[in-house]
Amino acid sequence: MSAQRGEFGSRLGFVLAAAGSAVGLGNIWKFPYEVGNGGGAAFVVLYLFFCFLLCFPVMVAEISIGRKTNRNPAGAFEALGYKKWSIVGKLGIFCGVLILSYYNVVAGWAFGYFFEMVSGNFAIAENFGAYVSDVTKVGLYGLIFMSVTAFIVSGGVQQGIEKAAKILMPSLLTIIFFLVIYAMTLPNAMEGLKFYLVPDFSKMNLQVIYGALGQAFFSLSLGMGALITYGSYVSKKENIVQSAALITLTDVGIAVVAGLMIFPFVFYQGLGPQQGPGLVFVALPGVFETLGPVLGVVIGSLFFMLLSFAALTSTVSLLEVPVSYLVDEKNMARKKAVWLTAGVIFLVGIPSLLANGASDFFSQFTGFLGSDTPTDFMTLVGYIANDSFLPLGGLLISVFAAYIWKKENLSKEISIGYEGYEGSFVQTFINFVISYLAPVVLGIVALLTILNRFLGITLI
Ligand code: TRP
Repeated sequence: MSAQRGEFGSRLGFVLAAAGSAVGLGNIWKFPYEVGNGGGAAFVVLYLFFCFLLCFPVMVAEISIGRKTNRNPAGAFEALGYKKWSIVGKLGIFCGVLILSYYNVVAGWAFGYFFEMVSGNFAIAENFGAYVSDVTKVGLYGLIFMSVTAFIVSGGVQQGIEKAAKILMPSLLTIIFFLVIYAMTLPNAMEGLKFYLVPDFSKMNLQVIYGALGQAFFSLSLGMGALITYGSYVSKKENIVQSAALITLTDVGIAVVAGLMIFPFVFYQGLGPQQGPGLVFVALPGVFETLGPVLGVVIGSLFFMLLSFAALTSTVSLLEVPVSYLVDEKNMARKKAVWLTAGVIFLVGIPSLLANGASDFFSQFTGFLGSDTPTDFMTLVGYIANDSFLPLGGLLISVFAAYIWKKENLSKEISIGYEGYEGSFVQTFINFVISYLAPVVLGIVALLTILNRFLGITLI
C-alpha cells in the first residue's frame, strides 16, 4: 500500500508543504481581522501563547501518529489498534470538508482581486460589498480555484504538493517584506502598530480567548488530521520535533509580519480595524493606489497573486485529507477521489458563497433561527469548524497520544530521526503539554463556552 501512497521527496519538501498548508488566508486575511475584533495586541499575546506552548506539542503528536501509521486520519487510529478512536479522525475529515467549503469562497475573492488589480481597479475596495455578492463572478473564481486545487492534488504528493510549495512560499515572503517596509513609511503607521503591539488586557474576555485559540489551531492547520495526513508521507529519517518547530515558527512569523503590514495600512486610511472579513480586501487596494499607476498595479497584482498561491497550498492540504481517506480506506483511485471530493465540497460551499449579501437567508442566517444578532452562514461555519471542532480535535488527539497510545510509544516514534530525544527537556515539555496543559486548558475553554452559549452563564 505504502508504495502507491507516496512520500515527500526531501526534508525541505515536507516542511515547505506543511508550512504551505499552515500559511494561507488564515495568516493574511483572517488573523488581522480577528486581531481587530479581539481588541488588538491582547489577542496577539494569547495567540502566541497558544501557538507555542499548546499547539506546537499537539502538532508533534499529530505528525508522529501519521508517520507511525502511514495512514489517513481515520485509518491511523485504527492502525494503532484503537478502532473506536477512528471517529476522531472521521470528525476531523468532516471538519476539513466544512473548512474547505468556505475557505475556497474566500480564496476565490482573493483570486478575483488579482484581476481587479491587474486592471487597476483600486476602487474595488469601496465596492467590496457589491463584489462579494456578485455570485456569478465570485462563484466562477471559486470554481476555478477548486479546480486548480484538484488538479494539483491529483498530481500526488511529490509532483503536485511538494513542487508547488517550493516555488510559491519564498515568493510570498519576499513581497510581504517589501510591503511591511513600505507600510512603516506611511503617516499614522505608529498608531496602527500601537493597536497591534501594545496589549490592553482589559479587553480580554472569553470570546477573545476562544477566538485566539481557534485561530491558533486554524492557522497551524491543526486539530483535524491534516498533519496526520502529511505526517503519513514523511520518511523515518526526519526529525519531527525540528520540522514541527520550523512549521510553527514560519506560520506564526508570517502572521505576525502580515499584521505589521496591515495595521499601518488600516490606520493610514483611517479605516478602523473592526471591519471583519472584509478587512484586508478593503484596506489594501487604497494603499496600492498610492504607489502610483504603474507600481501600484504591479505590486497590487503580485500581492493578490501570491495570496492566492498561499491559499492554494492550504486548499491543497485540506482536499488531501478526505482524498487520502478515500484512497486508503475505500480503495478509490486517486484521480476519482480528488474530483469527486472537490465537486462535493464546492457544492457544500454554495450557501457560504451566498452568505455575503447575495441571499438574505444565508446572509442573516442565524436571524432566521431566532438570534437577535444575526450571523451569516459562512461565519457560522467558521465558528463551528475552526473555533469549536479544531480545539476539540486537538484535545482528543492530545488525550489519545498521552493516555491511549501512550507517551512511551509517542516518544519512541519521535526518537526515530531525533537521537537523544528520550530524557531530554524537549521530551518533558511535550509530554507535559499533551498530558496536562492541553487537556486542562482546552477542557476549561470548552466548558466555559458551553456554559456561556447554552446556559447563558458568563464566568469571564
Ligand atoms: N492553516 C491554513 C491557513 O491559515 C488553513 C488550513 C489549511 C487549515 N489546512 C487546514 C485549517 C487544516 C485547519 C485545518 O490559511
